[in-house]
Amino acid sequence: MLRPVTVILGVCLSAFLIGRSSNGDHQQNKKEREVSYAKDLFPVVEKYCVVCHSREADHPSGLFMETYEDLMGEGRHGKAVIPGNAGKSILYQKLLSPPPFGRAMPPSKRIKLTPEQIELFRLWINQGAKNN
Ligand code: HEC
Repeated sequence: MLRPVTVILGVCLSAFLIGRSSNGDHQQNKKEREVSYAKDLFPVVEKYCVVCHSREADHPSGLFMETYEDLMGEGRHGKAVIPGNAGKSILYQKLLSPPPFGRAMPPSKRIKLTPEQIELFRLWINQGAKNN
């Protein structure tokens, strides 16, 4: 039989522990690392996207990715990047399955971005899509 006092102590201890762990998460969010366009994002774009999304390839979507300015420009469906809002950015939406239109990027059965690489796009856009 548990005595009421034990139960109360248990509840207090759990509340304390839960409080601590959510604080921990909060601190991690605060310290979330800043994603650099040049060092983190562009190498992924260059490796997996530019081959198709270039003027040279005369890409049908009209969205080019060779430079920062290209990426911030408009494709057939308008601006692909809404700084600060990955959820509304076509660039990020097209990496998810199912995408809002067409195929998920890159459109290949063999080549897939890792969840970490997709997360880079999300963070970079949410952090303001800076040319950093
Ligand atoms: C094999 C060629 C190919 C590769 C590689 C590729 N794409 Fe695409 N992409 C396409 C085609 C074709 C379309 C147009 C059809 C569609 O929307 O599915 C497109 C459309 C898009 C669009 C929609 C633009 C608009 O306004 O309509 C975005 C955003 C996009 N791709 C992002 C990416 C990203 C990010 C990568 C790299 C991770 C990538 N793509 C790699 C072929 C490619």
